[in-house]
Amino acid sequence: MPRFRSDLDRITPYKPGTSIEAVAAELGVGDLAKLASNECPFAPWPEVIEAMAVAGSGVNRYPDNDQRALRAATAEHLGVPEDHLWFGGGSSDLLRSIGLAMGGPGTSAVYASPSFVLYRIVTHIAGSEPLEVPLTKAWVHDPWRLVQAVREDTTLLYVCNPNNPTGTYLPADDVRMIIDRVPDRVLIVVDEAYLHYAGATDFSSAIPLALERDNVVVTHTFSKVYGLAGLRVGYAVGRPATLRALRKTQAPFPVTAIAQAAAAEALNYQDRVSARVAHNDRERARLIRAFEQLGIEFAASQTNFIFHRSPGQASEFIAHGVIVRPGVDGWVRTTVGLEGENDRFLDALQALHPNGRDFA
Ligand SMILES: Cc1ncc(COP(=O)(O)O)c(C=O)c1O
Repeated sequence: MPRFRSDLDRITPYKPGTSIEAVAAELGVGDLAKLASNECPFAPWPEVIEAMAVAGSGVNRYPDNDQRALRAATAEHLGVPEDHLWFGGGSSDLLRSIGLAMGGPGTSAVYASPSFVLYRIVTHIAGSEPLEVPLTKAWVHDPWRLVQAVREDTTLLYVCNPNNPTGTYLPADDVRMIIDRVPDRVLIVVDEAYLHYAGATDFSSAIPLALERDNVVVTHTFSKVYGLAGLRVGYAVGRPATLRALRKTQAPFPVTAIAQAAAAEALNYQDRVSARVAHNDRERARLIRAFEQLGIEFAASQTNFIFHRSPGQASEFIAHGVIVRPGVDGWVRTTVGLEGENDRFLDALQALHPNGRDFA
């Protein structure tokens, strides 16, 4: 056997939400509601599919390594200069590159727990030490404890806002407080994968801070509300010198031509984005009403998923044709789906819950 890096033994590989294909292969059940990966339940818009088809005819060439058309469209959409953007094959690709650029032996990275599992994986890949800070009892980032966790050797601090897997958010003032208190040598990554779904009046994007400060970057993705998870495209906003330094660890041509074309096209339909968010709001409220009726504890969500106590294991939901994501200590994470998918989830919940009969 080759001599692999032994420190990588600490890594538990990323486990994606169970796929419909995997359940179909194992149990022979094909008709499933997949509510396990916080994806957008709607198919891409026809104009986006058309843009992909057009781009597809040119894939004998490498894609634009500087993503010019997508960069211009994103810069205009956000109102930021083009050189303050950095694109990747999903925001996961950017998070990995950031971890590699900031890590290495003798460094540490601070993040909340539970939060997006990639932070831990990337910290280990980078040979850095993870410093995990528990969420509060309400499953919210604890801003003071995050600040206090920063050590002399800390180079990176992640804030997942809103947070995966809990759906909770940190008000803008708390994010600013963290950024103000942490030394400039620490890069702060504010991961806003779910920001479109966050309607709380005291939530706001940290982009203005990323434009202003060398040690702040904000990551966004086209995988959620834009519904392009299968294409893998995301971006970071930050100061040009910071982004140039981080980009050194990224492989060339990180975003395919098809993904670039689709993402640029998708930005043209902000009214439809709003309609998707409104759908999510309605359906999330319906699921929450059911949790309240059944007396099931849940975390206050500002996302397209809900973290809740579960009357059954994730595997028991599969028996009812619904895939949810296992969580911790009897909690699971359920993505808000289409109405019919949510109906199926509620039927499964009712069937698994001892008070299910009382639930109308
Ligand atoms: C908080 C958070 N950040 C980043 C990502 C990665 O998204 P992608 O790599 O698809 O852009 C996810 C995916 O679920 C996420 O939950």
